[in-house]
Amino acid sequence: MADFVEIFEVGPRDGLQNEPRPIPTSDKIALVDRLSACGFRRIEVASFVSPKWVPQMADGAEVLAGIARPPGVRFAALAPNLKGYQAARAAQVDEVAVFVSASEGFSRANLNCTVAESLDRLAPIAEAARADGMRLRGYVSMVVDCPFDGATPPGAVARVVAALRDLGCAEVSLGDTVGRATPEGFDAMLAAVLTEMPATGLAAHCHDTAGRALSVIDAALERGLRVVDASVGGLGGCPYAPGAAGNVATETVAAHLAARGYRTGLDMVALAEAAAFARRLRG
Ligand code: HMG
Ligand code: MG
Repeated sequence: MADFVEIFEVGPRDGLQNEPRPIPTSDKIALVDRLSACGFRRIEVASFVSPKWVPQMADGAEVLAGIARPPGVRFAALAPNLKGYQAARAAQVDEVAVFVSASEGFSRANLNCTVAESLDRLAPIAEAARADGMRLRGYVSMVVDCPFDGATPPGAVARVVAALRDLGCAEVSLGDTVGRATPEGFDAMLAAVLTEMPATGLAAHCHDTAGRALSVIDAALERGLRVVDASVGGLGGCPYAPGAAGNVATETVAAHLAARGYRTGLDMVALAEAAAFARRLRG
């Protein structure tokens, strides 16, 4: 049987967080419900971050309260600190995602603190998650290149991945946040990271600024990774990462994986409908 690759859908969070126009909660709920019908195992649907920093994500609790919860689909949300974790847990998420940067410049821009401080801030989340039996996903941003600091040394990524592993993250997603990675650069970074975390615990998170996301994903598959983050309709970007284009589009990744002989378990017709809906939300 063909190898399975999970597409971790991030559109309702990484996609919509960057939209300048306020998107009604009911539209966010409708998008998630459409995605739930596509066959995803996991969908990231909200962020419990400061509403002063990312106003678009201020309605996370309402989104989680309003969506259908079909069996077999797990819903994740982002949390930057214990306050965010507690709000995510109260909203009954299945998985909490924490996020740090491999570069100091982006850490300051996105989290208003150093990389070391951001990891310290995660300790109380890790403790609470252990007590609650909550699955933790970690994100590392700027794994190859940073608009503030330039090239990211692979060793710096490996150190942050090791710290997230030690905090209890079951999975770490490696973010080419500004979409500047080459397959060779991503591969060199993976060579360092794989000394700290096995491929089964890693995901590739690509933005498609330079049109190389699919070849970067191929490099990740070559190294044994089997989870790929993507955003329906190619929605996305990061409000604190200048130059970051949208995430690689889910439907593009799904078609690419199918053409390469991988199974994703996704219903391509339902996915095309969800992508058309997502693009309409952009206005
Ligand atoms: P701060 O201003 O340094 O800290 O923000 P603060 O503690 O003074 O908080 C400021 C205000 O926010 C306070 O309110 C807090 O109570 C409130 P005030 O007292 O002024 O009325 N606050 C919160 N409210 C709700 N939920 C919370 C929360 N925390 C504080 N959880 C902070 C520090 C970390 C909060 C801020 O920098 C922040 O929220 N940053 C998030 C930025 C963000 O969401 N970026 C996008 C997601 S990351 C990404 O997209 C990359 C990724 O996709 C991977 C990749 O592509 O690389 C994951
Ligand atoms: Mg992202």
